[in-house]
Amino acid sequence: MLELRSLCVSYGPVDAVKSLDIVVRDREAVALLGPNGAGKTSTLRAVSQLQRFTGSVIFDGVDLRGRKPEDVARAGLVHVPEGRRLFASLTVHENLQMGETARSGRAPSYSISDVYDLFPALRPLARRLGYALSGGEQQMVAIGRALVASPRFLLLDEPSLGLAPIVTKVVFAVLAEVGTRTPMLVVEQNTAIALNTCSRGYVLVSGRIGMSGTSEEMTDREGMLASYLGQHDAVVTP
Ligand SMILES: Nc1ncnc2c1ncn2[C@@H]1O[C@H](COP(=O)(O)OP(=O)(O)OP(=O)(O)O)[C@@H](O)[C@H]1O
Ligand SMILES: [Mg+2]
Repeated sequence: MLELRSLCVSYGPVDAVKSLDIVVRDREAVALLGPNGAGKTSTLRAVSQLQRFTGSVIFDGVDLRGRKPEDVARAGLVHVPEGRRLFASLTVHENLQMGETARSGRAPSYSISDVYDLFPALRPLARRLGYALSGGEQQMVAIGRALVASPRFLLLDEPSLGLAPIVTKVVFAVLAEVGTRTPMLVVEQNTAIALNTCSRGYVLVSGRIGMSGTSEEMTDREGMLASYLGQHDAVVTP
């Protein structure tokens, strides 16, 4: 469904992603893990054509190189970015309606009402403006809006970032349910919850894959996983 081949992203002299090969098959939820600065966001932005890269990004058999980001979104590759990016001056309900306009003719997979069922906490907030939401509420709206867009594939950048453990649980329970019908690539630093929800994972370290496997294999190699994820901390801790 989504295939990254020899993907490289550089910022001037800084090589952030170094010849990455990643495959996500139909109906598969895959975790992209790694410490700060590993190149996770750069990878997702390259897929969405928001970032220059070399190598190829193949979505459903089609090379996306040269497409505009809006065309990629129109093709059903829906990106929930780091920091959520809601429309601050629109209400929760209006933000969800923006998802409807992004459907581009695809049959609805989730209605706005389905989103309120998935995230009941949003129902009483329907008329609340975007700027007046907590981080967790914003994340629920951002994911809800992506679902209303009838995604053929979801890219999620650190959905748990800054959320309380209980909200993280709610968000991942929804992603687990969505993942039964929609393939996704989920960037996370919360390794345990990501591997619990996804069937496979890759660990990115300094722009390269340090480790990959099924979630079970990766959980079994806990020590190795921790050393990859802890590597960066060892560098920044005095
Ligand atoms: N616009 C930019 N200009 C220059 N360097 C950048 C830019 N964006 C990212 N980088 C660098 O590229 C590397 C990878 O960054 P990226 O944001 O992809 O990492 P990440 O894995 O998403 O990290 P985090 O977990 O902190 O979000 C880092 O070294 C970062 O400093
Ligand atoms: Mg990031």
